[in-house]
Amino acid sequence: MPPQSSLVAIYPGSFDPITNGHLDLIARGAKLAGRLIVAVLGNRSKQPLFSVEERMELISSVAKFPNVEVASFDGLLADFAHARGASMILRGIRAVSDYELEWQMALMNRRLRPEIETVFLTAGEEYSFISSKLVKEVASLGGNVAGIVPALVEARLKERYETTRRT
Ligand code: PNS
Repeated sequence: MPPQSSLVAIYPGSFDPITNGHLDLIARGAKLAGRLIVAVLGNRSKQPLFSVEERMELISSVAKFPNVEVASFDGLLADFAHARGASMILRGIRAVSDYELEWQMALMNRRLRPEIETVFLTAGEEYSFISSKLVKEVASLGGNVAGIVPALVEARLKERYETTRRT
């Protein structure tokens, strides 16, 4: 499908950290939209491993597409999408277990901003088991996460957990 050049899409998430599953979705989303904004949630309630700035820097370093930009947001996603002129929210679905929450979020976002459509892409099959949470657990216990996160992220995880172990 040729990219819809006037279409602005938002791909929101925690991205703590970005995985190859996210990267696959960004690459595919960038083919659908004229502009794709990867929006990192500055979530103060969760305790992220990487700061918003670190997460944005990792995404910018590995997701190099001419029509992809990286931003952060606080507050309601629907409001952020509206403020950026986006008409599409892009989310990935890995398994049926993702569906219920995604469905609730899509309906809530539609209630808040009916003009913005949520579009789901199925995760690439080789990435359907990957989550940032699992990646962090494996990396924190010294396991190998090569191939499921970009090499830069793998190095940063190693660095972060080595520092944590030393302190
Ligand atoms: O990567 P994640 O953690 O699955 O992303 C969840 C995210 C950021 C898409 C969701 O938590 C979100 O949109 N948060 C912003 C607050 C908001 O708008 N809440 C109402 C959505 S229904």
